Amino acid sequence: MIQFQMFDHQPERCEKYHQMLTDNLPVLEGIGSEADFEKYGDSLGWFDIDTWANEAELSAIEELAARVRRDADVFVLIGVGGSNNAARSVIEAFPECDGPEIVYAGNSLSPWAFEQVMNKIRGKSVYIDCIAKNFQTLEPGSAFRVLREYLYETYGEKANERIIATGSRNSLLETICKEQGYSFVEFPQTVGGRYTAVTAVGLLPMAVAGIDIRALVKGAADMAAELKGCRDITQSAYRYAVARNLYYNEGYRMEMLASFEPQLHWFYKWWIQLFAESEGKEDQGVYPISGEYSEELHSVGQFLQDGSPVIFETFLHVKDPQASMIVHPDGCVKDDFDYLNGKDFREINEAAYGATLRAHSEKMPCMVLEVEKLTPYSFGEIFYFFMYTCYVSAGILGVNPFDQEGVEAYKQRMFKALGK
Ligand code: PA5
Repeated sequence: MIQFQMFDHQPERCEKYHQMLTDNLPVLEGIGSEADFEKYGDSLGWFDIDTWANEAELSAIEELAARVRRDADVFVLIGVGGSNNAARSVIEAFPECDGPEIVYAGNSLSPWAFEQVMNKIRGKSVYIDCIAKNFQTLEPGSAFRVLREYLYETYGEKANERIIATGSRNSLLETICKEQGYSFVEFPQTVGGRYTAVTAVGLLPMAVAGIDIRALVKGAADMAAELKGCRDITQSAYRYAVARNLYYNEGYRMEMLASFEPQLHWFYKWWIQLFAESEGKEDQGVYPISGEYSEELHSVGQFLQDGSPVIFETFLHVKDPQASMIVHPDGCVKDDFDYLNGKDFREINEAAYGATLRAHSEKMPCMVLEVEKLTPYSFGEIFYFFMYTCYVSAGILGVNPFDQEGVEAYKQRMFKALGK
């Protein structure tokens, strides 16, 4: 369950909002409709969770993950953008998981970054998964080559047992897997990278790390059922999508997703990619940015409170941090912090959140999305909630949320420079 609330003190804007809720209902009604499947069918494979996270898929993922977990000290996730961000956001949120160390490669072209990867894996039992939908992307393709070489040097002919590739059916990557005896995992053709959190693309690395992927899938499925079961102006994802577009129309061109939980550090990257790549087209779109509080209240907080009024803020508020830390009285040192005596950081963090929301909402439109606590189940809910919202929001904006032709511009020039 994700609760949505708006904190907007301008009565005229609130009136516009209610009008927009009514005016855009046809967009909500069209979500996942037959007409949409005709238009976007090649990209809506994520819409029904059961299509790519059914029992057969989950069992196969768990079996492969168990084999890796038995033998690996390190698992290298090779992938960029949508092929990496969802898994990383969950894996890094639960560092207490008992799996092999997860190392990320194929998301950079920096030789320095590659050296760091090699330093982490040398002398350890290594498995790799190259995740690449079309297997033409430079970062994962080049990293796969270097890491394959390392594995063959280290393990000889048995290296192939340590190599997994996640790619499209009938792709070059599948052919390579067949020829070389690598394990092949299907990257759903009908799901774009940034929508793959609840498919083998995201779930296999999570399962290797020891995340309860069945709980995550259940969270996503429950959220899907909740949103699909409520197709009116009370639906939280719809209300949030409409509000984003209202603020965009009012000149607020950036949305800051802010939270007081550092556990969401890598999640922001996933969220930013989802909205930037889905909505930033035809000279339109809200530019997504993140606010890691309370730390960044001491840096960008100044801009938010007093700078150009171009940002609206969405707080992703976690009610129960599932942790506790008491500040005890210090009988020896007089440090002027006695007002904290006996207080729990739960209460202190919550006070900072409440104060920030009150202060910022006096300056800019603020919204709150509230989740009870961060668990694999709630990550499933959150992933689905935002993917659905993005689909609706792009519908209101009038752009296709599933393509990304803009990224070709630099790629063509880069490939030319590299002699491809
Ligand atoms: O969301 C998307 O489609 C992209 O961000 C891709 O995930 C990213 O470009 C990586 O693509 P590929 O898996 O084909 O290497």
